[in-house]
Amino acid sequence: MNSHAFQRCILPQCGSVASLDDTKFFCPKCGNLMDVAYDWDKVRPPADLREFEAKWTRRNEPLEFSGVWRFRELFPFVKDADILTIGEGQTLCQRSDYVAKYTGMNPGQVYLQYEGMNPSGSFKDNGMTAAFAHARTVGARRAACASTGNTSASLAIYCAASEAMRAIIFIGSGKISYGKLAQALDHGALTVQIAGDFDDALARVQQVSKKLGIYLVNSINPFRLEGQKTIMYRVMEALNWEVPDWILVPGGNLGNSSAFGKAFIELMDMGLIKSCPRIAIINAAGADTFYQLYERQNLRWNGGRYEESLVASYMHGLDVANARADTIASAIEINRPVNLPKGLRALERCGGVVREVTDQEIMDAKAKIAAGGLGCEPASAASVAGLKKLRAEGVIAAGDRVACILTGHQLKDPTATVAYHSADPKTFEDVLGKRGVRRANYANRAVQVPNDLDEIIKAIDVYA
Ligand code: F0G
Repeated sequence: MNSHAFQRCILPQCGSVASLDDTKFFCPKCGNLMDVAYDWDKVRPPADLREFEAKWTRRNEPLEFSGVWRFRELFPFVKDADILTIGEGQTLCQRSDYVAKYTGMNPGQVYLQYEGMNPSGSFKDNGMTAAFAHARTVGARRAACASTGNTSASLAIYCAASEAMRAIIFIGSGKISYGKLAQALDHGALTVQIAGDFDDALARVQQVSKKLGIYLVNSINPFRLEGQKTIMYRVMEALNWEVPDWILVPGGNLGNSSAFGKAFIELMDMGLIKSCPRIAIINAAGADTFYQLYERQNLRWNGGRYEESLVASYMHGLDVANARADTIASAIEINRPVNLPKGLRALERCGGVVREVTDQEIMDAKAKIAAGGLGCEPASAASVAGLKKLRAEGVIAAGDRVACILTGHQLKDPTATVAYHSADPKTFEDVLGKRGVRRANYANRAVQVPNDLDEIIKAIDVYA
């Protein structure tokens, strides 16, 4: 075992520890979530974050090429030999004045962190490579997850690349977009479709993993979140190691939000940055548990002494009403975010806020992001829709510097995109209208023309 890294309960008042090779991922004493923790006196991190830049010249070394592992001194829990990299984290933080204009921000102040560039097309690869490395250190041969589609695509691709791990994925019935389902099937994952939604699938996969001793890679796995910290390192690197004023991130299971918070808290504690950005977590209005609890019921981390009974009674209310999450942003169609306490912790240290945005706002923002040159899936666009809202409220100033995280690629969910731009009212209604989207405000409709040269030329003259 690695003596400088271990697992520790997130509640400071508990603080129970577990060894690095424990795969239960819940506190043995109080049952809460665990962190991966490090003894930084034994493993000195770099004295200056700029030291990571030097690694850009070592592109022929796979671990330095990886946008995740080149930062591994900031999450030293694994031996290099156990790492499988497929080039994850080679992503871009792009300035977008087009999106700045749409959201009411000043030019030069909005950056889009485009995680759709990952090998499986979503940010999940950042975390999956880390969890996968841990799975190999403990000798796992099978790994499982419940998923709204991206975690499963990511697990499937790593398992396929390793040839030595079997992927078992649980998905809700009819709840996964075709792009994502296609990936799981094509990469050879055992795909278990259960009659239920994501929240049901996550509960089941935990039971099954425990019973069968299968390694679990959902974001309750703290090793996954270690890899996701690197998304923030890359944002800062792109901004010349300056901390932005705001990070905006879609909130589903709150794994990203938790990882981002941990990244900043650690860097602050190590004296590597002087301030944290503020974090805005954006829920879809049809899956807004975190918004309801944080903004409406004032639930706070409170140094670890958060009111667990408030969470329990909210969840009980969902049960009684048989309430189901419902949003076009299927990736974040989640009512029971498993990382809720870690999300609260991130918001406390980073001075955060939570907002909810409608499917109309999400789809319009998505169309604008695409018109500005980056393609993302609906859940990702929640970050930009949230920026527009927070700017309109005056919470974010036009001159603040912000980074919105575009978590998944446009091609993950072509159905939503085609329905938005479709000229066929039925297609629009079936996919979007039934979810309360009234108008495709930024639709780019295909032009119908007869198969006739003059008519085609006429149409082009009219429209372009
Ligand atoms: N955006 C995308 C594209 C996602 O796939 C997810 C989560 C999120 C945002 C939310 O991130 O859970 O860290 O708050 N997708 C999971 C999955 C649940 O199974 O693929 P989070």
